[in-house]
Amino acid sequence: MLPMAAMNPVPLIRAARIRGRVRQLGRELAGAFAGNPGRVPAIVALLDGSFCFVADLVRAIPVPDLRLHFARAASYHGGTVSSGSVTIDALPSCVGADVLVVDDILDTGRTLAAVVAALHAGGAARVRTCVLLDKPARRVPVDGVRLRADFVGFTIPDRFVVGYGLDHDGRYRHLPDVCVLDGVAIA
Ligand code: IMP
Ligand code: MG
Repeated sequence: MLPMAAMNPVPLIRAARIRGRVRQLGRELAGAFAGNPGRVPAIVALLDGSFCFVADLVRAIPVPDLRLHFARAASYHGGTVSSGSVTIDALPSCVGADVLVVDDILDTGRTLAAVVAALHAGGAARVRTCVLLDKPARRVPVDGVRLRADFVGFTIPDRFVVGYGLDHDGRYRHLPDVCVLDGVAIA
């Protein structure tokens, strides 16, 4: 861990750009849900990182009805090192549901792969994924597959980012811009 003074959040994606992209995503998602009349879509948002994104996203999806659930998934246990093992808590029952998993960032892909597998195992009819950020350079194969999200806000380079819900050891989630955290090495 570097001394606090060495960590300097530098804006990478400004709040106004995020707002515009979230609005577009909302419209795309409304279209994606429309193919299934009669089935109320279910969003499963992964805490803590997705709290800003999903709060803005759900209000940008112009559909008359949807379900919103929160689950907690963690593959990073503090700092910037991915442990490789994923813990999932409070996953809702989504039997027969058209599910959209929402997360802040797709990094190695282990978290989302584990949540998608658990939802399928729990009987979801369809599972799609939406992330604000995609860091494709960091993806690892999970059961031989490199996960791709169905809906992506922004593709970003291999840098550690914070803000708009993303944290470093619980800090910086409140920043309105997505920022690169200078001085943090990715393990
Ligand atoms: P994955 O399982 O490696 O795809 O990790 C996804 C999770 O790791 C995300 O939900 C984030 O909580 C965390 N994560 C990955 N990259 C970053 C980053 O650059 N900043 C903050 N958190 C990150
Ligand atoms: Mg997270």
